[in-house]
Amino acid sequence: MEGTRLSKLVKQHAQTARLLGVDFVPVYRSGLAEEPEPTPAHETSLPATQPAPAVPVVKPASEPPVVVVMNTGPREARSAAAVQASLDDLRRRYEADAPHKKFVTAHTNIVFGEGDPCARLMFVGEAPGAEEDRTGRPFVGRAGQLLNKMIAAMGLAREQVYIANVLKTRPPDNATPTSDEIRLCAPYLFEQIAIVDPEAIVTLGLPATRALLDSVESMSRLRGRWATFRAPAPSGRAIPVMPTYHPAFLLRAYTTENRAKVWSDLQMVMERLGLSPSGQSAT
Ligand code: URA
Repeated sequence: MEGTRLSKLVKQHAQTARLLGVDFVPVYRSGLAEEPEPTPAHETSLPATQPAPAVPVVKPASEPPVVVVMNTGPREARSAAAVQASLDDLRRRYEADAPHKKFVTAHTNIVFGEGDPCARLMFVGEAPGAEEDRTGRPFVGRAGQLLNKMIAAMGLAREQVYIANVLKTRPPDNATPTSDEIRLCAPYLFEQIAIVDPEAIVTLGLPATRALLDSVESMSRLRGRWATFRAPAPSGRAIPVMPTYHPAFLLRAYTTENRAKVWSDLQMVMERLGLSPSGQSAT
C-alpha cells in the first residue's frame, strides 16, 4: 500500500479510535493525529520524571538454556498448540530454575507472559507490578490499560499480540530491575522470544530495551528507531525491535508530545507489519 494512503487510513483510524475512547492517540488542531516533530538531536536524556536506571549492557548468559522447540520453518506452518506447548515447557523450566530466588522479590505469583503464541507482534515490559502479581498476568494494572489502548489504536486486539516482561516476578516497591536481576532472567525472555518468533518486538521503557539491545543509549535516542534483536541459537533470527516509552512513564507524563512520540513509534511498527488501521493486512 502506498505510504500516503496508509497514512490517510492511519489518520482516519486515529480519529475513529478517539471516538471509541482510545484517547492516547494525540489530536492536533485539525482534529487528526499527525506526525510529531522529530526528536531534537540534542535530546539525549530521559525526561526528569523517568530517571534512567544505571543498567549496564546485558548480554545473554554465557550458557543459555537449551531451546526445546524452535521455529525454523515458515510461520504459517506453525501450530499454535505446539508453540504454546513449547512456552509451557519453558515456563516449567523457569519455575524449576527459579532464577528469582537468587534476588529479593515481593511476589506471590510468577507472571510469565500471555497472548497469541504465534503473534506477529510482541511487547516486552520490565517487571510485574502489584496487579500483575495478584493476577499472574502481565500488564493488567493502570499501565496495562494504557497498553491495551495502544494496541487497540494499532487496530489489534490484545489477544492477537504476545506480552512478556524481562523479570517474571514483582520487585519490592516496584523497583527498577538491577543489572544482576536482568542478567539472571533475560535468557528466559530471549528463549520466549525465540519460541514466539514474532516479526517485530516493541520494547516498553529503558530496562526492556537495554535487555534486548546492546546499547547504553538513553530512551529518547533509542525510541523511534528500528534496532535488531538476535534470537538465541539455533534460530538465530534477527528480529526488528522498536523501542518506545513505557506506558507507566506515559501515564506520569501524559503530554501531547509524549503521546505523539509513542504513536509515531507504533505507526512505524504498523507500517512494517503491513497492518492497516482496521487490523487487516494492508498488503
Ligand atoms: N509494568 C511492566 O513493565 N510490566 C507489567 O506487566 C506491568 C507493568
